[in-house]
Amino acid sequence: MATIIDGKTLAQKIRSNLKLECEELKKNGINPKLAVILVGDDSASKVYVRNKNKACEDVGIEFEEYLLDSSITQEKLIDLINVLNYKKDIHGILLQSPIPRHLDINEAFRTILPEKDVDGFNPLNVGKLALNQDTFVSCTPYGIMKMLEEYGIDLNGKNVTIIGRSNIVGKPLIQCCLNKDATVTICHSRTKNLKEHTINADIVIAAVGKAKFITEDMIKNGAVIIDVGINRDENGKLVGDVDFENVVNKASYITPVPGGVGPMTVAMLMNNVIKAASKLYK
Ligand code: GUN
Repeated sequence: MATIIDGKTLAQKIRSNLKLECEELKKNGINPKLAVILVGDDSASKVYVRNKNKACEDVGIEFEEYLLDSSITQEKLIDLINVLNYKKDIHGILLQSPIPRHLDINEAFRTILPEKDVDGFNPLNVGKLALNQDTFVSCTPYGIMKMLEEYGIDLNGKNVTIIGRSNIVGKPLIQCCLNKDATVTICHSRTKNLKEHTINADIVIAAVGKAKFITEDMIKNGAVIIDVGINRDENGKLVGDVDFENVVNKASYITPVPGGVGPMTVAMLMNNVIKAASKLYK
């Protein structure tokens, strides 16, 4: 049976350390602050933002929420980002995605100052990650890399198969894994014969958004399985993309849902805000 990668406990440990760093910053007159913009009333986004708020409270980071109506214009959204960019007391800016379809999220992300881009979505920061330069790494990929590191799972020369090519998870993960010298395969909804790409993978990272999508027959014995999915099964229970009950018997390591990648994403956001406030970012 696989070792369960306990993201919840690791995230708690990271947050405890960040709390000390935050106290230290405050002693030096720096009061770390995160501004979060939420457009519209997507229910999942509201839950994510609430979790981020709670984590900020726990670490000691000030949290400022900007709730915008779903009918807001692009111009008003950009104006708000520009105001936050120039506010000296705000160290990090996060625009919760998705945003309504009439808005241009790419323009919004590139408007957030790279120094305050704690999500790592500004194209400059995306480019820096691709060049393996110090930058803000987007929080879910960063959290996954931290978990692998904590459990002593080396990526050097390993076959990593990522399923899902989103800008938030799949694409930055390619760079993170390449930067650790893995051989990376990226699959998506148009990939033919998915199993051909997963069966020889030492590490499978699933970010698909479909319950029980990764089944036991798709992975090799002893594979490491990272589950980014957050879905509801037929009984309304929170489940990932992996058929956990069966895959757990074949894998060497596996992340649970909940309690795996999710809490790590929030912890790495806290890490990025403290980093921004510390001006460690170069
Ligand atoms: N929506 C889902 N995940 C994320 C995230 O990591 N950051 C932002 N800004 N929006 C998201």
